[in-house]
Amino acid sequence: MKKNNFKGKWAVVTGASKGLGFAYAEQLLQQGINVIGVARNAMPFQALAQKYPDVEVEAINLDLSDPRNCQVLFDKVQKRDIAYLINNAGFGVWGFFDETDITKEMNMIDLNIKALHILTKLFVQKFKTQNYGRIFNIGSVLAGFVSGPVFSSYYASKAYVMSLGVAINTELKKAKSHVRVVTICPGQLKTDFWASSREDKKGTKGKVANVDVFARKSLKKAMKTNRDYLIIGFANKMAKWGALHLPRKWILNSIHRFQKSR
Ligand SMILES: NC(=O)c1ccc[n+]([C@@H]2O[C@H](COP(=O)([O-])OP(=O)(O)OC[C@H]3O[C@@H](n4cnc5c(N)ncnc54)[C@H](OP(=O)(O)O)[C@@H]3O)[C@@H](O)[C@H]2O)c1
Repeated sequence: MKKNNFKGKWAVVTGASKGLGFAYAEQLLQQGINVIGVARNAMPFQALAQKYPDVEVEAINLDLSDPRNCQVLFDKVQKRDIAYLINNAGFGVWGFFDETDITKEMNMIDLNIKALHILTKLFVQKFKTQNYGRIFNIGSVLAGFVSGPVFSSYYASKAYVMSLGVAINTELKKAKSHVRVVTICPGQLKTDFWASSREDKKGTKGKVANVDVFARKSLKKAMKTNRDYLIIGFANKMAKWGALHLPRKWILNSIHRFQKSR
């Protein structure tokens, strides 16, 4: 099979009902790839069926923070010829660690870490057997590289996403597999993410990128790249450079100041 010629095959996108997942789903459909969209309420994603009648759209309602539902999802999609998985569903819990809600944080760990881990394992095994397929795990530009005061457990969850994905992708490359796990690291995007991360529902501050533009650019690169992770845009690349090269104390103080002032 020609490497990465996946037109007519299927993609699974988690968190497809809005935001980045919805934008990825739309990009895939435009490229002739059928999409299974997952969310607790995937109905908004189902609406794409009318907009793209030449490709297939399947909506699955599942709460992926229940680890059992990851296996349920995997079993449900077995009848399809899957070539992509986008582990995108995720949320944050913003605030000082001694004040944030432990139940919400555990739920976030179940979704951002456990569900992503289980689905990555199931699909890497499947893709390795068929020797094609790509997994795109959604990390975060700063959180992948540095701790995040006043957003601590969310940053830690995305550090896990980065560490896991880079290690698996290295194994795959060493095994000369065609399968890839690429960690995509967005900066701030204009979605509901920020409002849903906070008790007071306040949005974000600072520069936010257009989610459709980010989805288009990152997907195009992720479909071809041999890299372990992707950062899109000059400002995000500079942020990563700073996180790795500037004095750690200065970076942590800056993040603390920025997150506190949101
Ligand atoms: N926005 C940003 O600035 C930004 C920056 C860096 C990284 N990210 C990452 O990008 C990804 C997408 O975020 P977004 O900005 O698009 O957020 P969003 O607009 O809030 O969308 C989140 C999506 O995840 C789904 N979801 C939430 N809980 C779920 C659960 N338990 N089971 C299944 N689906 C669930 C939501 O649908 P339901 O509510 O119907 O379940 C929705 O489709 C996340 O991993 C986030 O951490 C975002």
